[in-house]
Amino acid sequence: KYEAVLFDLDGVILSTDDFHYKAWKKLADREGIYFDREINERLRGVSRMESLAIILERAEKEYTEDEKIEMATFKNDFYRESLQDLTPDHVFEGVKDFLGFLTGNGIRIAIGSSSKNAKFILKQIGMFDTFEAISDGTNIENSKPDPEVFLKAAEMLSVAPEKCLVVEDAEAGIDAAVAGNMDSLGVYAVCEYDKNTYSARDIQSVDRSIF
Ligand code: BG6
Ligand code: MG
Repeated sequence: KYEAVLFDLDGVILSTDDFHYKAWKKLADREGIYFDREINERLRGVSRMESLAIILERAEKEYTEDEKIEMATFKNDFYRESLQDLTPDHVFEGVKDFLGFLTGNGIRIAIGSSSKNAKFILKQIGMFDTFEAISDGTNIENSKPDPEVFLKAAEMLSVAPEKCLVVEDAEAGIDAAVAGNMDSLGVYAVCEYDKNTYSARDIQSVDRSIF
């Protein structure tokens, strides 16, 4: 049924939540803005500048565009530095086995991530050469829930969107799949989202008969 599976990266292949949280927290503390893990959950799948906008909802002053860019850069520098600690051990249980099952059945695999750090992360976890195509924050104009990142991934593989299944942990990502006319599989944080075509608690419990 599916010719390709397009994987989100953060929150699907590994968790980067903690790295993002600590970096945004450092910025929020510097600016005296309240930030906690519940707010951090809202940043899932959302681009860097949109994440900043969510954090600034709690700010007491208005910031200029230049100040916003400085803040996003400050966060990203700290985030990148902390990603040095990422290793192949951070890859979620069952991911390698699932990817092997797909490629073994002739189903092609690609990344569709909003992150501009996707390639760096893939290198750190030893999976840079695992996927046939990598569509990420560096090749898109519009972030999820816009379907662009997944449409680009499908285009890179020359597979029609209707033949693609998107695997996501964020509502914005499932909405992007729906907008791109693709089926979706919601895992982890979004396993109970009502727009999923399929859902699974984790990668290991995905029902393989859907392929
Ligand atoms: C997504 C994450 O994958 O990438 C978001 O779920 C993050 O939380 C977004 O904001 C952008 O990431 P980056 O690495 O480009 O700042
Ligand atoms: Mg994600």
